[in-house]
Parts: sequence; C-alpha cells; structure tokens
Amino acid sequence: MASFASQTFLIIFTLFSPFFITINGEFSIQSIVTSTKRMEKMTHLHFYFHDTISGKHPTAMQIIKPHNRSAGGLFGITFMADDPLTEKPKSSSKLVGRAQGIYAFASQHDVGLLMVMNFAFFEGTYNGSALSILGRNEIFHDVREMPVVGGTGIFRFARGYALAKTVWSNQKGDAIVEYNVSVVHY
Ligand SMILES: *[C@@H]1O[C@H](CO)[C@@H](O)[C@H](O)[C@H]1NC(C)=O
Ligand SMILES: *[C@@H]1O[C@H](CO)[C@@H](O)[C@H](O)[C@H]1NC(C)=O
Ligand SMILES: *[C@@H]1O[C@H](CO)[C@@H](O)[C@H](O)[C@H]1NC(C)=O
Repeated sequence: MASFASQTFLIIFTLFSPFFITINGEFSIQSIVTSTKRMEKMTHLHFYFHDTISGKHPTAMQIIKPHNRSAGGLFGITFMADDPLTEKPKSSSKLVGRAQGIYAFASQHDVGLLMVMNFAFFEGTYNGSALSILGRNEIFHDVREMPVVGGTGIFRFARGYALAKTVWSNQKGDAIVEYNVSVVHY
C-alpha cells in the first residue's frame, strides 16, 4: 500500500506538472495544464448570417474602393457590415444577434476575405455577450474555418473556432451563411 507521503506527492505532481506531448519534432510541444482555479465551459452556437449588399436596405456596404486595380481582381475592396444573425435560414426567423465589422478581399490570387468581426448576441443568457472572429474566409469553399480570438460577458476568455457554409447566394453578392461556433470560456 502506498504511503501517505507518496500519495500526496502523486496528487501534487498530477495537479502541477504539465503533461507534455511532442507532436512535430522540435517544432511544437503540447501540454495539458491542469488548472485548479476555475472550471472552463464549452459552448456550441448555431445560427445564420445574412449579408445583404444590394437593394434598398443593405446590411453591408463597400467603404474602400482601391485606386489601382492593376493588382487584379477584387483585391483591396472592403465592406463594413452590420448583419443580422438569425435562428433559422429565413431572414424573418428569430434574431439572435448581429455581426458587426469589416471584411476585405485580402488576396491577389483568389477571393479570400479577411474577416474582422464582432458577433454580439441578444438571445437569453447570451444577451450582451459577444465573440470576436478574426480570420480568412475563402467564400467559394464549401466549409470555411475561422478562429474565435476572444469574447466578453459569458464569453470572457473565449477561444475556439467557427465553421461557415454558404447556404444561399445571388449574383449581386448577397448571401446567407450557416455558422457553427465552438468556444471554450469561463
Ligand atoms: C499599380 O500597381 C502595379 C503593381 O501591382 C504597379 O506596377 C503600378 O505602378 C501601380 N500603378 C499606380 C498608378 O500606382
Ligand atoms: C437584451 O438586453 C437589453 C439591454 O440590457 C434589453 O433591452 C433587451 O430587451 C434584451 N433582449 C432580450 C432578447 O432579452
Ligand atoms: C453545423 O452543424 C450541423 C449539426 O451538426 C450540421 O448539420 C451542419 O452541416 C453544420 N454546418 C457547418 C457549417 O459546420
């Protein structure tokens, strides 16, 4: 039977020693940090993002038009958005939040966007809480992944990722995008 001292040592060791896993030779090491302070929670969110640039009531508008188009394509074109987030694909379904921020055509070689967005939520216990998304959105790919880099309210210390899939679009550039967001937070 293990002595009290060795059991105590084992508990202290388990609590304070990170567990190291080498993944790619010298390039990276992952450690599992056992925090005794606070319990982290994992939240999954599912909603639809409505980006409307045409018509009488656009929710996003172009704010930068590049002078020099010789770089090619759409590079440099920048939009400011205040887009509704709804529970279902229909725009008339329940409003659960708004995505406010900037997206810009950030590549000279494809139609990749740089997204800098605050997703503010109104629904239930999430009312007043927000997530920040910052990343590349290659709009013609089936499913895109973007990092969640932080949050406020319920989502303080948030980190995670968003998966985005266009479920409807038209020739004018309007789109409805399905989002699945997974975040760890306090
Ligand atoms: C436009 O950009 C190209 C490079 O993409 C450059 O060679 C050219 O000088 C620029 N023209 C002006 C007017 O700035
Ligand atoms: C969210 O909070 C705001 C201000 O605290 C309040 O006016 C609004 O009614 C709330 N919305 C919902 C859906 O609970
Ligand atoms: C989101 O999750 C639902 C349910 O798991 C799935 O049917 C849908 O394809 C997912 N969409 C994206 C963009 O990940």
